[in-house]
Amino acid sequence: MNAPINFTATQLPVAELRRARSGSLRIEHVSKSFQLKSGPLLVLDDISLTVEPGEFVAIVGGSGCGKSTLLRLLAGLDTDYQGQLLHDGQPITGTGLQRGLVFQDHRLFPWLTVEQNVALSFTNTDVPAAERKQRVAAEIARVGLDGFADAYPHQLSGGMSQRAAIARALVGRPDVLLLDEPLGALDALTRVRLQQELRRLWQDEGITMVMVTHDIEEAVYLADRIVVLEARPGRVRRIQPVPLAHPRQRGQTEFVTIRDGLHADFGDLRDAPPATEAPGLAQWGAEDWARRLAL
Ligand SMILES: Nc1ncnc2c1ncn2[C@@H]1O[C@H](COP(=O)(O)OP(=O)(O)OP(=O)(O)O)[C@@H](O)[C@H]1O
Ligand SMILES: [Mg+2]
Repeated sequence: MNAPINFTATQLPVAELRRARSGSLRIEHVSKSFQLKSGPLLVLDDISLTVEPGEFVAIVGGSGCGKSTLLRLLAGLDTDYQGQLLHDGQPITGTGLQRGLVFQDHRLFPWLTVEQNVALSFTNTDVPAAERKQRVAAEIARVGLDGFADAYPHQLSGGMSQRAAIARALVGRPDVLLLDEPLGALDALTRVRLQQELRRLWQDEGITMVMVTHDIEEAVYLADRIVVLEARPGRVRRIQPVPLAHPRQRGQTEFVTIRDGLHADFGDLRDAPPATEAPGLAQWGAEDWARRLAL
């Protein structure tokens, strides 16, 4: 079941919100290794990138090239790296409400309702109960889940669950949203619809978005810039700007040219060879949630 939805525009004019918003990210010469029995595995090698406030950056690259690892560093879930990561000029030393997270699968707790799942973001914060309730209701409405606050995750479709996960990330009023293949598990039609909604949300709120995706068309549809990573070690191969107005038309000549150029790039982007040991991918695990909630 897919609820008919639209992210509701806020009352404030976009320009004003964009001025009011912060949300810059600086990745400065960041390298990351994992220690394996056989020695260190260099996964990210000297990555540098500046993301402007309100910018939409997509990260694409072969499997295992370090996309999730980079996002985990930006989220503050992993602080063991070389180089510097700054959010609005401040070093990222842990997780925080100002950086919202959306995972590939929704990670809703099955024994909690939508409302309770969204309210989880307030764990260990001093936001008063009445304000929590009001903000949770507002975010549930914004993602089009009106009437489903009391539903449990098993009563939702995949798309609705992802919307609930987006509401959970937004309820903390982040100025940066980090998305790790958030639409990867959805059918093609739901995916296109949620892409449109993410675009509207981004345009209305001016939130900085950093989205990992395997879907090049999705990246071209949404992003201001597309960072192409290559594998082993993960390096920035190139950064593709997408200077097209929104809403973008997928059949438009410039759209197709950029998309096909990236596809050609992907042709010789190899997936990282599988690690011979400790294959644990940098997915978001239960411990991440524990860390996230102990703000
Ligand atoms: N905890 C860990 N211990 C050891 N190696 C790890 C760990 N987490 C990730 N790696 C390795 O780091 C590399 C990058 O993993 P990462 O999950 O960031 O890739 P990815 O680009 O997100 O891949 P995918 O597109 O498949 O999600 C892989 O080789 C992986 O095996
Ligand atoms: Mg990944």
